[in-house]
Amino acid sequence: MHNAKAYSAASARSPLTSTTIARRDATGHDVEMEILFCGICHSDLHQVRDEWNEVMPTVYPCVPGHEIVGRVTRTGSAVSKFQVGDLAAVGCMVDSDRTCPECQAGLEQFCQNVTLTYNFPDKHLGGVTYGGYSESIVVDEAFALSVPPNLNLAGVAPLLCAGITTYSPMRHWCVTKGKKVGIVGLGGLGHMGVKFAHALGAHVVVFTTSPNKKDDAVRLGADEVVVSRNADEMQKHLGSFDFILDAVSADHDINSYIQLLRRDGNLTLVGAPEKPLAVAAFGLLFGRRSLSGSPIGGIPETQEMLDFCGKHGITADVEVIPIQKVNEAYERLLRADVKYRFSIDMASLKAE
Ligand SMILES: NC(=O)c1ccc[n+]([C@@H]2O[C@H](COP(=O)([O-])OP(=O)(O)OC[C@H]3O[C@@H](n4cnc5c(N)ncnc54)[C@H](OP(=O)(O)O)[C@@H]3O)[C@@H](O)[C@H]2O)c1
Ligand SMILES: [Zn+2]
Ligand SMILES: [Zn+2]
Repeated sequence: MHNAKAYSAASARSPLTSTTIARRDATGHDVEMEILFCGICHSDLHQVRDEWNEVMPTVYPCVPGHEIVGRVTRTGSAVSKFQVGDLAAVGCMVDSDRTCPECQAGLEQFCQNVTLTYNFPDKHLGGVTYGGYSESIVVDEAFALSVPPNLNLAGVAPLLCAGITTYSPMRHWCVTKGKKVGIVGLGGLGHMGVKFAHALGAHVVVFTTSPNKKDDAVRLGADEVVVSRNADEMQKHLGSFDFILDAVSADHDINSYIQLLRRDGNLTLVGAPEKPLAVAAFGLLFGRRSLSGSPIGGIPETQEMLDFCGKHGITADVEVIPIQKVNEAYERLLRADVKYRFSIDMASLKAE
């Protein structure tokens, strides 16, 4: 065991502050990584503030962060995938049982015994797992991803959650050329959704509550942009979408989007607001539409997504910040004031 610098929250109402945590020493299949960048996901904020209390209550102190990219600094004797000096990345999961049908299908995100990167029972050290707002992490190589060499690392970090969470449902629901796809909420997830839907050849329509994001949406790959508070603009798209990805972090009316689906169209929620959303049955009945949800993605698909990004030159649009600005970044995230993901430069932690 050794110590690592980190930022943690002591309670749902505390700011994140500098601390020291324990990390296990790398043995067997473990790789130890120096973390270079960690993205700030809205899920970090939900968890730090215990907004998902009913589903997964937060254990304090909480060290969030599951959009991790870094460099391998140590390897256990059995490691075969990585060498010291390699780039590596870690997303929302650090382990699973690896034997159940879900794991065997490469869908570890559905494993009953999955270990999430933070706020989950730590099988090695006891207590809970600690995430990427830290100078280092130790993870089994089976849950470490290879990073394409041609991409900007600050913009790679968010691919590990925002990237896979939007890529996976689009692959599942067969987003391809000729499909009309809506992306609701142009935040960290949403802007990755736009990039992927565009790269997959779809006709992409962005729905935003922020008129000042219109030009960016087009630059990111949208064919059309709708300011969702404008009912007339919404009406024009009634019954026309094959697929809509809803990446909104707060309470909102999903019925107005369900109506925009064509027959047999699907709306997938990836956003995870604190409170339940109301659904009008008739919106689904008329048109045999479906509503579904999707959590992150499995390890093989996460690697596929990273390789796709390498091939297409896709990264997140990031605002790089030092860790000392993390609390301010959370407040800005709540105001939808980030273009389009904060990525923490972990070198800043050395100053603590
Ligand atoms: N399913 C999963 O596995 C998974 C993975 C990661 C994150 N999530 C969840 O996905 C959600 C989005 O995460 P994120 O990191 O992308 O958050 P984010 O960067 O804060 O983006 C959320 C966007 O939602 C829109 N929005 C915010 N408040 C709104 C409101 N009251 N009404 C309508 N639109 C609103 C804003 O877009 P506009 O300005 O364009 O309107 C905002 O930029 C969070 O709930 C997060 O926990 C789920
Ligand atoms: Zn996330
Ligand atoms: Zn399993």
